[in-house]
Amino acid sequence: MMFARIAGVGSYLPGQPVSNDDLVARGIDTSDEWIVSRSGIRSRHLADAMTASSDLAFAASQRALEAAGVDPDTLDLIIVATSTPDYVFPSVACLLQGRLGNAGATAFDVQAVCSGFVYALTIAEKFIRAGGHRRALVVGAEVFSRILDWQDRSTCVLFGDGAGAVVLEASETPGIMASALHADGSYQGILNVPGHVCGGKVLGDPVLRMDGQAVFRFAVKALAEVAEECCASAGIAPAEVDWLIPHQANIRIIEATARKLGFGMERVIVTVDRHGNTSAASIPLALDAAVRDGRIRRGQKVLLEGVGGGFTWGAVLLEF
Ligand code: UT7
Repeated sequence: MMFARIAGVGSYLPGQPVSNDDLVARGIDTSDEWIVSRSGIRSRHLADAMTASSDLAFAASQRALEAAGVDPDTLDLIIVATSTPDYVFPSVACLLQGRLGNAGATAFDVQAVCSGFVYALTIAEKFIRAGGHRRALVVGAEVFSRILDWQDRSTCVLFGDGAGAVVLEASETPGIMASALHADGSYQGILNVPGHVCGGKVLGDPVLRMDGQAVFRFAVKALAEVAEECCASAGIAPAEVDWLIPHQANIRIIEATARKLGFGMERVIVTVDRHGNTSAASIPLALDAAVRDGRIRRGQKVLLEGVGGGFTWGAVLLEF
């Protein structure tokens, strides 16, 4: 049996951290106390106007390739999860492929918003297990600051920019042990960017709109259920999992999910305090932070889980 295993991890955050007080200084009618108490976010990184998702993806990918000791020429699959691509087309995956100097690999983007990385990782694993591909680069990259309404204090304080990447390789040993992906388009109205390009103009509302409380309720239920489903399909109890890496949207959602699953917070990786919600980038950013600081080690079981617009949700259980 052929498995798919993570060979290296990398991430990148643009510029210096922007604190909650920095947002207040920029004229947003909010406070550090409100943002910390409602979301757990203390700072985030915001890309400058010249920096696109492909730039963040490229920097994170270089670090992942270096960690894996892999030459970009040898990649035969590149998948980028993003909802903030540089262009309508070509895909960020193709722009990244060009920057890396890889020619000929299968390359495409996945659009599943904050679940994008678990979707992309699952797709890459299925390509590898099917036998046609052996080495994938899987990236989550976002510049969510571009699609925020900076006059809407209920959303603009919650998000940040960044990218994370993994190299996933064919392996005789696990690897990814199980995954579960779901969506329910009937929830599209509670979190969306309802605009599009038409005849050279943007039609509709090209910024993020969210019913925060409805999203909160959906997220806690979906994250707990999908984590249990994923563990059950691998025949493993949540108690046997070493680390939980939930999508980093809000510390209260993370704590509520961990509580439902019986995880003490000492087994949960948290970066939302310093990254904010970076959508598809949040899980690989958190994974990279915990691998580099030595918490996540080879052989440990790690459960990744995401939820986001669509609605989409999913989980991946892996042995690192
Ligand atoms: O990837 C998924 C992405 N989204 C999420 O995960 C978001 C999930 N939802 C949440 O995290 C929370 O619902 C929020 C953090 C968005 C909001 O927390 P809440 O406890 O649900 O607050 P609320 O929406 O009920 O707002 C309470 C008050 C309102 O004032 P009034 O009407 O009670 O006087 C808002 O106007 O807080 C006010 N408010 C703010 N005050 C200061 C809203 N945003 C801010 C702000 N600063 N930035």
